[in-house]
Amino acid sequence: MTDTLRLGIAGLGTVGTGVVKIVQRHAELLSRRCGRPIAITAISARSRDKDRGVNLRHYAWEDDPVVLARRPDVDVFVELMGGADGPAKAATEAAIAAGKHVVTANKAMLAHHGQALAEAAEAAGVNLRFEAAVAGGIPVVKALTEGLAGNAVTRVMGVMNGTCNYILTRMDDAGLTYEEAFAEADGLGYVEADPELDVGGIDAGHKLALLASIAFGTRVSFDDMKLEGIGKVSIDDIRRAGDLGYKIKLLGVAQMTGRGLEQRMTPCLVPSASPLGQLVGGTNMVVIEGDAVEQIVLRGPGAGEGPTASAVMGDVCDIVRGMKLPVFGQPAETLAPAPPANAESPACFYLRLELVDKPGALAKVATVLGENGISIDRMRQYDHPGAHAPVLIVTHKTARPNLDAALSALPGTGVLTGAPVALRIEEV
Ligand SMILES: NC(=O)c1ccc[n+]([C@@H]2O[C@H](COP(=O)([O-])OP(=O)(O)OC[C@H]3O[C@@H](n4cnc5c(N)ncnc54)[C@H](OP(=O)(O)O)[C@@H]3O)[C@@H](O)[C@H]2O)c1
Repeated sequence: MTDTLRLGIAGLGTVGTGVVKIVQRHAELLSRRCGRPIAITAISARSRDKDRGVNLRHYAWEDDPVVLARRPDVDVFVELMGGADGPAKAATEAAIAAGKHVVTANKAMLAHHGQALAEAAEAAGVNLRFEAAVAGGIPVVKALTEGLAGNAVTRVMGVMNGTCNYILTRMDDAGLTYEEAFAEADGLGYVEADPELDVGGIDAGHKLALLASIAFGTRVSFDDMKLEGIGKVSIDDIRRAGDLGYKIKLLGVAQMTGRGLEQRMTPCLVPSASPLGQLVGGTNMVVIEGDAVEQIVLRGPGAGEGPTASAVMGDVCDIVRGMKLPVFGQPAETLAPAPPANAESPACFYLRLELVDKPGALAKVATVLGENGISIDRMRQYDHPGAHAPVLIVTHKTARPNLDAALSALPGTGVLTGAPVALRIEEV
């Protein structure tokens, strides 16, 4: 290794060019802070000729990221191509096998292969860092692995997909339908090429799975996560939830209980006055609760060139400074298999029902809820011009199986005119 720390960057899109810009703009500052200069020696992308708005003339070019990862003049391989498998994984494995440190922003790859890659990196004695993969510019991985290392973490929550939060915010503040808000977000370039990654909750689920592993000392278990996107959230529910003092968010929650590890990324209600309830637009927020620290809230840009490149460079600086940490906060071989929760923690639920406008309809609903052990905390009925009466119910804390049993029984009453909507209310 020369005195200069040499980066090889594979992927020169949004994040990759952002990293190049920081290295070029802050060469002197980085050198001063890290005690050694940082330089880019080699780069790779699909198209060599594309104008990327940065000067790349002084860097060696490789068509194949695997070849780049193995170059002797690369100390840290920076993987910014994306994709759970394919070239990203092949090049990361090649870099580790060649004894190079790796910095990546690739949550999909780590959510699916994090355990194997972490074991390989630790066996090879190299760092595998991924701050940029979770909540963009927010240094949440660092917060969990370092600043909060003295805590038993009890719960991690977060709004970690800016596109979903932007869509929900626009539905709320501009009264747009889901389709209209989605089209607007798409027009602004906020939606991934495969929209399901965003609006289906998959991207945010990947991030939560990584945080859960660090928080609870368990192997990354994305496959056990309950995932539900925002496609079914209606403007009606956003308005009605607002009337009751709540906002609807695509909220990720990971917590270890006696039932096992709960991981869910689903639309839920949070109090409007809470930090999560006040989060608007594309911003991300992560809430961490620990037995000693109680609760901390981290808020910031969850994506974009500058914020994501900032997180990548934070990892690079740690490596230059000689920091060495286990990938998920404790040696990968000591991570326990995640015990999937056999049931969700009980919660209050928001129910929206459309009932026939006839005497006794509400009583039949109350009977079904009561028969399933669900008690009503609050109820609201709306004026209605037609024959359908919209009714909102907030339940007291109830177990999900009881709610599901009630939801199955309700159509049998003959008083519903549409499918009931049920959303969890998260205590935050
Ligand atoms: N964008 C964000 O705000 C953000 C935030 C957090 C995390 N991330 C993560 O960061 C990573 C990169 O995201 P991005 O938004 O920068 O993606 P992007 O703009 O689509 O850029 C991807 C880059 O990878 C290159 N590439 C793709 N396949 C390649 C291959 N087979 N060989 C060599 N190069 C290849 C592309 O080359 P060409 O340019 O020649 O096509 C492009 O330069 C992803 O893992 C993403 O999930 C992104």
